[in-house]
Amino acid sequence: MRVTHTNADMSHQNGIAYKFGEVLNSLGENGLLPTIKKIGQRINYKIRGLDFSTQNIYDLTRTGEYKEHGTALVSTSKDFLSKIISDLESAIGKPLNRNLFIDYGSGKGAAIIHARELGFKRAIGVEFAKELHEVAEENIKKLKLDNVDSFYADATTFLPPLDVSVIYLFNPFDEVVMEKFIFNLKEQRKLFKNDVYLIYGNASLDILSKSFKLIKHIEYQSGSTADFYEI
Ligand SMILES: C[S@@+](CC[C@H](N)C(=O)[O-])C[C@H]1O[C@@H](n2cnc3c(N)ncnc32)[C@H](O)[C@@H]1O
Repeated sequence: MRVTHTNADMSHQNGIAYKFGEVLNSLGENGLLPTIKKIGQRINYKIRGLDFSTQNIYDLTRTGEYKEHGTALVSTSKDFLSKIISDLESAIGKPLNRNLFIDYGSGKGAAIIHARELGFKRAIGVEFAKELHEVAEENIKKLKLDNVDSFYADATTFLPPLDVSVIYLFNPFDEVVMEKFIFNLKEQRKLFKNDVYLIYGNASLDILSKSFKLIKHIEYQSGSTADFYEI
């Protein structure tokens, strides 16, 4: 088994000691109120029976040609998605068209569920790990959400629908997949019906800027980053 920076074992992040350390870090970096909010959100997920826990992917069933090129599952929190969407709106100086949000490498469905709850009319996710896609379907079912769908597919084989308005990547894959993804996007963008923006969270690559206009790069106090592109 090849272990790269992209598929490193993240499962320790679900342990009690790790979580305790995370709370202490958050208290130090963000202060009391945001930390309480974060803990509240986690408890809320538990009560609703949702599973957005971190998971490595190298033991999972993966479809497609690029099995060794993906990152471990780390789910986007609702606060983070809400913050980056409002920061993108500030950066473009207008409200986003909330027609269709698509997440490439959608894991357990966290970002698509949050996007729907944040007012997108439709949210779809593309996930190449079967077990994660199945958890996403369970999460969606538990919340009885309509117009949210997870698809079990490799990101390079699933073209964005023409009515897409926001494309989301939360550091899902390496440059091998990203290059193919960019190629597809450049082909497809001529046909898009809306202005389309791409949000690249926790970017590990800068090759998108060779093909698309980088609107803004933001570094948050938490250490997370967001890059906004015009497609
Ligand atoms: C960092 S996680 C992000 C999860 C989700 N986007 C979120 O924000 O909650 C990256 C995800 O990308 C998936 N992934 C990696 N390579 C992929 C590919 N080629 N096609 C589809 N999914 C992929 C991984 O299995 C993992 O679930």
